[in-house]
Amino acid sequence: MCSLPLQLLLAIFLLKISDCQEITFKNVTVAWWNDTDSKNEIKVATADNLKKIVPSGENVTVKVNGDVSVLYEQSIYDINNLNSLELSEVSLKEIKPGAFGKLPPLGYLDLSKNNLTEIKSGTFTNLNLSVMSLMFNSIRSLQAEAFKNVVVEELKLSANSLTEIPRGVFENVTLKSLYLNSNPIHTISPKALPTSLTDLDLFYNQLESIDPEVFDYPELTSLTLDHNQIKFLRPGDLKNLPQLEDLTLSYNKLTEIPDGVFSNTNIVFLKLNYNEISTIATKAFDHMPKLKWLNISKNNLTRWDNNWLAGSSKLFVFSVDYNQITEIPDEAFKNYHGVFRLDLQNNKISRISVKAFHNLGHIRLLDLANNEIESWNPDLVANVNIDEIDLSMNKFNAEKGSE
Ligand SMILES: *[C@@H]1O[C@H](CO)[C@@H](O)[C@H](O)[C@H]1NC(C)=O
Ligand SMILES: *[C@@H]1O[C@H](CO)[C@@H](O)[C@H](O)[C@H]1NC(C)=O
Ligand SMILES: *[C@@H]1O[C@H](CO)[C@@H](O)[C@H](O)[C@H]1NC(C)=O
Ligand SMILES: *[C@@H]1O[C@H](CO)[C@@H](O)[C@H](O)[C@H]1NC(C)=O
Ligand SMILES: *[C@@H]1O[C@H](CO)[C@@H](O)[C@H](O)[C@H]1NC(C)=O
Ligand SMILES: *[C@@H]1O[C@H](CO)[C@@H](O)[C@H](O)[C@H]1NC(C)=O
Ligand SMILES: *[C@@H]1O[C@H](CO)[C@@H](O)[C@H](O)[C@H]1NC(C)=O
Ligand SMILES: *[C@@H]1O[C@H](CO)[C@@H](O)[C@H](O)[C@H]1NC(C)=O
Repeated sequence: MCSLPLQLLLAIFLLKISDCQEITFKNVTVAWWNDTDSKNEIKVATADNLKKIVPSGENVTVKVNGDVSVLYEQSIYDINNLNSLELSEVSLKEIKPGAFGKLPPLGYLDLSKNNLTEIKSGTFTNLNLSVMSLMFNSIRSLQAEAFKNVVVEELKLSANSLTEIPRGVFENVTLKSLYLNSNPIHTISPKALPTSLTDLDLFYNQLESIDPEVFDYPELTSLTLDHNQIKFLRPGDLKNLPQLEDLTLSYNKLTEIPDGVFSNTNIVFLKLNYNEISTIATKAFDHMPKLKWLNISKNNLTRWDNNWLAGSSKLFVFSVDYNQITEIPDEAFKNYHGVFRLDLQNNKISRISVKAFHNLGHIRLLDLANNEIESWNPDLVANVNIDEIDLSMNKFNAEKGSE
């Protein structure tokens, strides 16, 4: 701002002295405390560096109240007793590269609820932190090397205005949990995110598919993709996520689950509820040795396939409620060895095959409430291993209620 022609600079200097002085802290209140101390608070008229405000010695958390529209170069600099810094709701619009520097490892850097629109190259270079929050800003652009050489456990970029994540933003970043939810992101470039990622939150975005070139993270265990625009899954979509255990795909636009997406993965929790799935290939969930929770509730299934889930013997809770299944076929539950709960309530089941319960393993609770079963013969389940069946609100007992 100050590298302008001399005459112009002089004119601006004479007219508006304060604009060129790069004073970050003007008329603010600064509070600080440590674990044992009670809070100290002072009013600050002007200061260019937080170091001049916070006393040295104690290891402190600092919170700034008031308006701080620009963090100028070296404004948060060389403060060796800083533990955490809260600069939330201070109307911050801009951070100059070099604002942060020579800081010890920080517990928390909170820059949430401000008016940042861009993170410039080099803004957070070399910081080491547990948690950094940039949530609830209006960030549209992350420049290349915005987080260069940063070491951070959790980075929160939720609730911003990001539409894409290009390669280079997270250059040499060590990061475990990345929150990108509630942005309008439609594109993530291959290799754009740090390879150290274990948790990635992308719910409420605009992604349309899971591209294995993009989702190539060897350490990722949790991926949250609900409330996107994903319309289809292809065989091999998850092939570059070998450690994935928890996958949420609820509230997308899926209509079909083909073979070769989920089988032979290490997924434990799979949420597919609130899609429009009408077809699930017979082998779609085969050989998922760790699968425990499968939720396909609130979809458009009409047919129960008695061959689903072969070789996925850890299944514990299977929810298929709120679909349009009409019939329970022969040997419907032959692959369910130790299921705790099988939710089939709120379907359109009217027929139950005579051999439906043949070769059943063990189910603790089978919920068939709110279906259209016209008659019920208790002999069907006379010698089978089901601890409890809920048959309430069916045609044969609609008036009686629970059986
Ligand atoms: C300083 O900030 C307070 C509110 O924090 C405001 O009421 C006051 O007008 C400000 N003073 C100046 C000189 O800007
Ligand atoms: C907190 O500050 C006091 C001095 O005010 C100091 O004696 C104490 O060691 C500090 N505690 C921590 C955890 O840094
Ligand atoms: C500062 O205090 C925090 C807890 O408030 C503690 O975790 C951290 O290790 C301390 N750092 C130093 C350098 O004393
Ligand atoms: C980051 O800080 C932690 C302590 O909070 C320390 O153990 C670690 O070595 C630091 N990492 C780097 C690369 O400086
Ligand atoms: C700045 O951000 C706050 C909180 O996110 C918001 O309420 C306010 O309208 C924003 N101001 C401008 C000028 O964008
Ligand atoms: C990557 O970042 C780490 C941690 O900040 C740093 O020690 C290392 O020198 C950086 N490597 C490169 C190639 O920049
Ligand atoms: C499955 O999803 C439905 C609909 O979102 C939800 O109500 C239900 O609690 C879920 N089932 C389990 C076992 O989590
Ligand atoms: C799925 O079912 C819902 C509610 O029953 C319905 O509104 C929707 O049109 C169906 N979608 C498809 C693709 O059949």
